[in-house]
Formats: sequence, C-alpha cells, structure tokens
Amino acid sequence: VSLEFLRRLRVGFAAAIAVDQLEPCPTFGNSHFVNLQYSDVPKTEHHPNPWHIGVLNGEPYPMPQELIQGELELLAHMFTMVVQLKPRLVVETGTNVGLMARALGAGCWTNGFGRVVSSDVDEAMVAYAKKVCAGFPVEIRCCPSLELRELPMADLVFIDSSYASRAQEKFLVKPGAVYVYHDSCAEGWIVPEVDAEEEYRVHLDGPRGFSLVRKMNRR
Ligand SMILES: C[S@@+](CC[C@H](N)C(=O)[O-])C[C@H]1O[C@@H](n2cnc3c(N)ncnc32)[C@H](O)[C@@H]1O
Repeated sequence: VSLEFLRRLRVGFAAAIAVDQLEPCPTFGNSHFVNLQYSDVPKTEHHPNPWHIGVLNGEPYPMPQELIQGELELLAHMFTMVVQLKPRLVVETGTNVGLMARALGAGCWTNGFGRVVSSDVDEAMVAYAKKVCAGFPVEIRCCPSLELRELPMADLVFIDSSYASRAQEKFLVKPGAVYVYHDSCAEGWIVPEVDAEEEYRVHLDGPRGFSLVRKMNRR
C-alpha cells in the first residue's frame, strides 16, 4: 500500500493549523458554564478556558481588532472531518481571513480530491484570504453566501457568515449532507430549530460552541 496518503495527512494537518501566534478564545454569552468546567486545567494565564484563536503574522489583518476566526481547535476538527467524510464539494459561508477555508482545503488536498468554495462580503477579507489559501483547492468569492450556487450542492457546509444569513443558509443544504453551525453558544442569536423529520443535530459546547447537523436522505 502506498504511503502517499500518510504523507499528505501529516503535511495537510500541519497546514490546517499553521498559525504564528495564539490568542485566548473569548467566552460567548451562553457558554460561561464552560469556564467553570475548566477551572482546574492548564490554560493561558488569567483566561478562563483552554481554547485558542490562531493568529497569522505578516501583513496586518483587515480588522486586527476583531479576531473572529474559528478556534484553532475547530480548524483541527474540521480538517479531520474532511479527511473522514471525503466530500467532493465543501462550502464555507463567511471566509474572514481564510483560516477555516485553508483547513478545509488542506483536508481536500490530503484526500487527493474535492474542493472548497467560500465567500465573504468584505473585499479586503477576500483579497487577504486568497493569499492564505494559495496552493490549496480553495476558491474564494466576494458575494453573499446565499448567492453561492454551490451551497445546495455541497456535501459538507461550514456555516459562519452573519447571523441573519446563517439562519437561511441551512435550508439550502441538500439531503444527505452534513453542516456545521459555528458559534452556537453566542448570545444574541438563536440557533434555528431542528426539523426532526428532516435532520438530526448534536450540539457541542465550547466558548463559542458548534452544532453538527446531518440532513436525512430518504432516498
Ligand atoms: C466569523 S467570521 C468567519 C470566520 C471564518 N469562517 C473562519 O473560521 O476563519 C464571519 C465573516 O462573515 C462575513 N459575512 C457577513 N455577512 C456575510 C454574508 N451574507 N455572506 C458571506 N459572508 C458574510 C463577515 O465579513 C466576516 O468576515
């Protein structure tokens, strides 16, 4: 058996989590219980939970004061989801600086097939993210995610745009596909109800939290 996949898994995972600095991950409004659960474990000094935000060096970020990219731990998680699920098409809504798009693309690269389409409405973010994702099978567009024609075709969707748009995006995910709702512990927005006839969901806690949802395929 060729060891090429093993080589790609090592290289791809390293690329998925390639950041230069770590910042603590802020706790969202509905997840302060998480801080209490981890009062006894090693973590950043004066910070209440053991999650991290990865930050890139290089050019200044378009919005350096607002580190809203996915947690480093979630980059690792989504990379392995791509490697495990082997999607042909992955869609991300809300690219920001491109860290999650790169992690998803690194997963497709590891598999040897598949591609990522991601969109953001901020031109500066799109330009920056294109550089972050260079060399991976990732296409980044500047448009509202609801206009992505690939969204209804994707096998795996990472939902992470504006809260208003996220609530609509899930309806476009096709039967049989998997989608991940980021920030499900955030204050100020309500994760849409699950239609028990159509999908099933696991809600996973964290300072930001995420929900893993499978749309049923009745065919
Ligand atoms: C939380 S950040 C995304 C972080 C990124 N997914 C990651 O994990 O690295 C949300 C992004 O969504 C973008 N956004 C807001 N409304 C949008 C929309 N309707 N369609 C696509 N992107 C949108 C914002 O400009 C912002 O960069």
